[in-house]
Amino acid sequence: MCGIVAYIGYREACPIIIKGLRRLEYRGYDSAGIALLNGALNVYKKKGKVKELETFIAEKDTHATIGMGHTRWATHGEPNDTNAHPHYSTSERIAIIHNGIIENYAALKTHLQQQGHVFHSETDTEVFVNLIEEIQKQNQCTLEEAVRLALHEVVGAYAIVVLSRDEPNQLIAARKGSPLVIGIGQDEFFLASDATPIIEYTSDVVYVNDHEIAVIRNGKLDIRTREDIQQTPYIQKLELELDSIEKGGYEHFMLKEIFEQPKSILDSMRGRLELEAGHLNMGGIRSYEQKFVNAQRIIIVACGTSWHAGLVAEYLLEDLARIPVEVEYASEFRYRNPIITERDIVIAISQSGETADTLAAIELAKSKGATIFGICNVVGSSIARATDAGAYTHAGPEIGVASTKAFTAQVTVLTLLAMIVGHKRGTLSEPKLRELMVELSNIPTKVEQALALNTEIEQISEIFKDATNFLYLGRGYNFPVALEGALKLKEISYIHAEGYPAAEMKHGPIALIDENMPVVVIATKDSSYEKVVSNIQEVKARKGRIIAITTEGDTVIPQMAEFVIEVPATSEVLMPLVSVIPLQLLSYHIAVLRGCNVDQPRNLAKSVTVE
Ligand code: M6R
Repeated sequence: MCGIVAYIGYREACPIIIKGLRRLEYRGYDSAGIALLNGALNVYKKKGKVKELETFIAEKDTHATIGMGHTRWATHGEPNDTNAHPHYSTSERIAIIHNGIIENYAALKTHLQQQGHVFHSETDTEVFVNLIEEIQKQNQCTLEEAVRLALHEVVGAYAIVVLSRDEPNQLIAARKGSPLVIGIGQDEFFLASDATPIIEYTSDVVYVNDHEIAVIRNGKLDIRTREDIQQTPYIQKLELELDSIEKGGYEHFMLKEIFEQPKSILDSMRGRLELEAGHLNMGGIRSYEQKFVNAQRIIIVACGTSWHAGLVAEYLLEDLARIPVEVEYASEFRYRNPIITERDIVIAISQSGETADTLAAIELAKSKGATIFGICNVVGSSIARATDAGAYTHAGPEIGVASTKAFTAQVTVLTLLAMIVGHKRGTLSEPKLRELMVELSNIPTKVEQALALNTEIEQISEIFKDATNFLYLGRGYNFPVALEGALKLKEISYIHAEGYPAAEMKHGPIALIDENMPVVVIATKDSSYEKVVSNIQEVKARKGRIIAITTEGDTVIPQMAEFVIEVPATSEVLMPLVSVIPLQLLSYHIAVLRGCNVDQPRNLAKSVTVE
């Protein structure tokens, strides 16, 4: 949550920071602020989006070559000008931006108040900057030393940048649990929560590790541990393309990302599915293959959409590899006392690779000796680095808050994983493997065909845009798709929606059905088709308005459903990759027709780096 960006060099800092904040706005958008250091240390901040901040500073003196900015997703204190970052210390000599949460802020605040510090906001961050000031005063030390000592006192997660009026040619940053990347240019440095604000200036980056402090002073970067041990910065080349983080002619990032899926699925298979040679490769599992073969159980931990991808994987791994699988909400798992052994494999799935609960679940499983396999989209992210092994999804940057292409990329990678492990374990025969490989390689084309339904789905959306509730039903592989369809609708259109296993409907939700209830049923031709047809009859008998997702050529369901959306046929195990497409488009169009902010829905942020 929250995006941070900073610059130190020879250019005007303000335009670089504002542009960077716009790129990071997906991480939080309830307020934004900037601090500029040029003799004076000026802080400007405003409730609302980055554009409100831009208007606010238009008439101000923003001339500076050092500065930092923040876009906020509120944790402590409501979104308003005062709670926005940056925060000054009491003397206004030091300012800070912070992404994360300081858990012991209340005790620290009481102590600091006793020392005479005055607080204006309700944030934990203002406590952090006053702590630094107090330590500096008590120890008569440099800012760097004061930051280092302060980091020993705070409990929680942070990526911070600190500026001081008294030490004007330096910028200090540190991280624990929240991401921080440093871009290295010629005589200039860029800091940000992810690489998107950096890419147009340099492709040389350093990912700061937990418990490291970066000091940029006189054109030099010095990285040390909290214990003051100097580190050699590991400079990596970014592979990000600038085009991939722009809208490219689409009205919204979400729509662009939905339409990118034939490519992102293909990219996630590239080099892994070699049809002609009849090979499947996944570099990430090579040295862990035997572990997978002998695994007594696989536990999948994730949140939100990634958890839905995990549910699809449960079906895949049990079907194809015959390994028992448990799928856990990371937020629940981390606070249980789960039974985990060294023969367990834990698969952590995360688009951002920064989700706090997923990271904590990994740490717990690690401490019990399990092997951790990560499936992440963001290269170099905290989860990617915390796992023993893993595979990237190669979906490209996903900027719309509602996850779309990340889901299908995750399912693609999980399918490949299940196929590889199933084949190695001898539970997936050679002919069946071959058949699935062919079918998987056809998926991008089938997704393309499903995307061609866009106009038809827009027309259906027009009819249902004012609904107040939606029910989504599916069975087997399509059950997680029903959950995902409901989540997409809720988060961007604010319509209440529930996903349910179709057969469970009669145990409760059927009571909700009347002539006003839209019921989306995913009823593609698979092993539970006949059963789902019966469920459709049950809805119809209660006058529910049925929107059915069917397989092309189905002649039975069109006689029962009010609307039918036909998707191309594919193997049952691969159907989620196709059947989810109309549900993404349905939620997108309904949200647009209701005038909602599709890319930045209220109360949400793209990566949830707080628990
Ligand atoms: O980055 P992650 O995949 O770990 O994020 C998990 C969830 O926060 C995320 O999927 C969220 O549910 C999305 N907004 C769904 O569209």
